[in-house]
Parts: sequence; structure tokens; C-alpha cells
Amino acid sequence: MNNNSISIVILAAGKGSRMKSNKAKVLHEISGKPMLYHIIKESKKLSDDITVVVAHQKEAVIKSMQAYFHDINFIEQDAQNYPGTGGAVMDIAPKYEKVLVLNGDMPLITAEALKGFLEIHADIIMSIFDLEDPSGYGRVVIRNQEVEYIVEQKDASEAELNVTTVNAGIYAFSRSILDRYIPDLENDNAQQEYYLTDIIAMAKEEEASIVPLLVDEEHFKGVNSKKDLAQAEVIMQQRIKNRWMEAGVTMQLPETIYIEESVVFEGECKIENNCRITGESRITDSHIKAGSVVEDSIMQNSDCGPMAHLRPASEIIDTHIGNFVETKKAKLNGVKAGHLSYIGDAEVDTGTNIGAGTITCNYDGKNKFKTTIGKDVFIGSDTQLVAPVTIEDNVMIAAGTTVTSGTIKSGNLVLSRTKMRLVKDFYYKFFGKK
Ligand code: UD1
Ligand code: MG
Repeated sequence: MNNNSISIVILAAGKGSRMKSNKAKVLHEISGKPMLYHIIKESKKLSDDITVVVAHQKEAVIKSMQAYFHDINFIEQDAQNYPGTGGAVMDIAPKYEKVLVLNGDMPLITAEALKGFLEIHADIIMSIFDLEDPSGYGRVVIRNQEVEYIVEQKDASEAELNVTTVNAGIYAFSRSILDRYIPDLENDNAQQEYYLTDIIAMAKEEEASIVPLLVDEEHFKGVNSKKDLAQAEVIMQQRIKNRWMEAGVTMQLPETIYIEESVVFEGECKIENNCRITGESRITDSHIKAGSVVEDSIMQNSDCGPMAHLRPASEIIDTHIGNFVETKKAKLNGVKAGHLSYIGDAEVDTGTNIGAGTITCNYDGKNKFKTTIGKDVFIGSDTQLVAPVTIEDNVMIAAGTTVTSGTIKSGNLVLSRTKMRLVKDFYYKFFGKK
């Protein structure tokens, strides 16, 4: 593929009212990233001239994308006076002769799936697919095997509504076609919008070459509603999980597992059912057991769960994390924390055993404080570590202890308990004898 021969314009200025949300449609997320992110990422594989058309919530859209990409252009649509997909392309200034126009609500697009648009030569290449239920899409009217026009659902007659060939919403135009017809677009339709799709009929009239390209819904699905968003998520998840299984990750009941696109696996990893792994997590040679959630965390040669929660910035190395253990901003290296604990803002060194019900009390209602635990420390069950606190190497903490003083020196035992009392035969006095 010639990397420099095509300009890409991504339409992202629409409101997306069918999403029923205050958030701009293109910023709704699929597998942890805004829809628009996925489209730009794939577009960058094909072109060095990418323009995103913005208007509705333009600041939020630009800010979100600039966090990921530095070399794309943004232009603003005059959506007030020229609403619609035709209005969106009125001020574009593409660098190359061929212009690929993508809708910003197609998060499943891939560079590979767009190849046909680069290879075919025509004035207009447009994408079509056949659907059992075409509702929501513009219908493509074909006569004598030639595309005549596209009609939007809201403008369609009864007969046109029955057409099951729809406009997928992606087109490659020659720049001269855009220059020729954009100024003539009108908005005399049900939505009073300028439709980019009207160019087809106009160009057809003047015998331009229009090539319909049959595409698949798996790559070209448009997301207009929350239901579409959920369906697109399923497809994206299948892709992400298939990719990792091909790379050697073992997954049990993969359809119950959610993995965001930025997660990385290395070595031999196993993920049991119902797990959620998000953000910049990097999992190496580890085993994530059923029902666990791992967020923005690192695991190396470790296991967690069932039902563990590694919250952001946990770094778990050569460590066993058992059921109902929560970690956050915690570095555990060579540690065992088998049951029911909260370890936050902490660093724990090798050989240390954390007993059931241990809690780092890291927050006093105003500030967060750190807990540092050294090597070969034995922490008994139901211990509270009131941070800031440092436990040096080779310390023993008795079950039920509240550690409050700053530093516990090596070699010591800490124990804070009220003395046990035994009241003889109290049970029988209270409840009576059997
Ligand atoms: C559009 C097509 C329809 C096609 C469908 C495929 C038109 C008129 N209709 O309909 O034929 O079947 O896509 O998914 O083109 N946008 C702007 N500015 C605007 C309006 C929209 O940039 O003023 C952007 C939106 O952000 C979105 C894209 O254009 O990313 C498509 O807009 P949308 O409202 O979703 O169009 P559809 O009704 O889906
Ligand atoms: Mg759409």
C-alpha cells in the first residue's frame, strides 16, 4: 500500500442524539477507548493526512484525541448553518487527489478492511451491505446493476424502505468530485440537513464512475444507539481475545471475559471466566482466577483471585493474591496475601505473609499515607496498619493487632490485644441448661 496517496476525512461533528447522552457520540467507549480513537488508529496505517471534522462538543473531542495522537488535523464544521454529513465536508482541504471519508461512529473499521477503497480507481467508491433489518441506514437504490441514489430512512418511501442494500457510510471520492458537487448540496429533506449521500445521485446524472463495494457489517457497523454500542463491543472484544489466544493466552469461557485494547500479555498467562482486565495492565506469566478485576496494574509470575481486585498502580511480582483481596498503588514482591485484605499505598518485600483480614489504614479523611513492610515479616490475621507505618524485616505481628507507631524495628513482636477473660459457665446461666 502506498502510504501517502490518500487523504482521510473522519466525520465526528454530529450530536448523536440517538445515544441519549450528554457525551459526544464519538467519545463513547469501546474496549476502553473512544470510538473515534479506534478509527484514527486504523486510519494512520493508511494515510499521513487525516482530518477530523468536529463541532458538537468540539473541545472535548479534540482534547480526548490529542491525548493519543499528535499529527492529525481538526476542522470545525459550521453545523449551525450547514448541518449534516454534507455540511461536515464543506471546508475540508485534503492534501491528495483521493479522499476517503469515514463516519466517526464506526469503531470496528480496520485498515485491512479499507484496502479496496485504495485499490479501485473510480470517481466515487461507496460501501454497501445487505441487511435483514436495514433500519437506521440510508437505502441504496440500484437499477441495472448501477447505483442510482441513496435515500435516508427518514426520507424514504414505502418501497424504498423495503430495500435491504444499505449505505455503510464510507466513501472514496476524487477531490474533483467533491469540489464539483459539495457547493450544490441542498437541505430540502426530512432532517433539513445537507446530506453527503446526495452527491451520489448528482454524480450519477453526469455519468461519473460510481463503484459500490460490498463490505461486511463486522467492520462497517455504524453505532447510533446504546444497543449498537453494546453490539460493537462484543465484536471488538472477540477480536481482542482472539488475538491474545492466538498469542498463547489461555482463557476459560472467553465470552465472559472483558479485556481492554491497551492490555498486554507476555509469556504464559491463564485467565479464568468472568474476569475484567483494563487500562495499561501488563500481565506476564500469571494466572488470573475467576471473577477478578485487574485495572492498570502489573502482574509478573503471580496469581490472583478468585474474586481479587487489583486497582490502579498495583505491581504484583512473584506474589500470591487470594480471594477478596484488594490492592491499590501497592508494590508486592514475593508476598503471600491469601484472604480478605486491603493493601493500599504500600510496599511489601519478599517472604512476607499477610494474614487474613489485614488492612492498611491509608487514609485519615484528609490525606493518604504509606505503609512499608520489609522482608520475611509475619502479619497475623486481623491486623490494622495505621499509616504512615514502617515494618522492618523479620518482624512478627500478632493476630488482632493495631499497629500505630511509626516504625517497628527488626526482630520484634508487636501485639496489642485486650487480655482474654474467661467467665465460667456463663452460657448456662444466661440461656439455662439443656
Ligand atoms: C449516515 C448516512 C447513511 C448511512 C449511515 C451509515 C448520511 C446523510 N447518511 O447516516 O446513509 O447508512 O451513515 O452509518 O450521510 N456528522 C457530522 N456532522 C453532522 C452530522 C453528522 O460530522 O452535521 C458525523 C457524525 O458525527 C457521524 C457521521 O457523521 O460520525 C454520521 O452521522 P450520523 O448522524 O450517524 O449519520 P447516519 O444517520 O448514521
Ligand atoms: Mg451513524
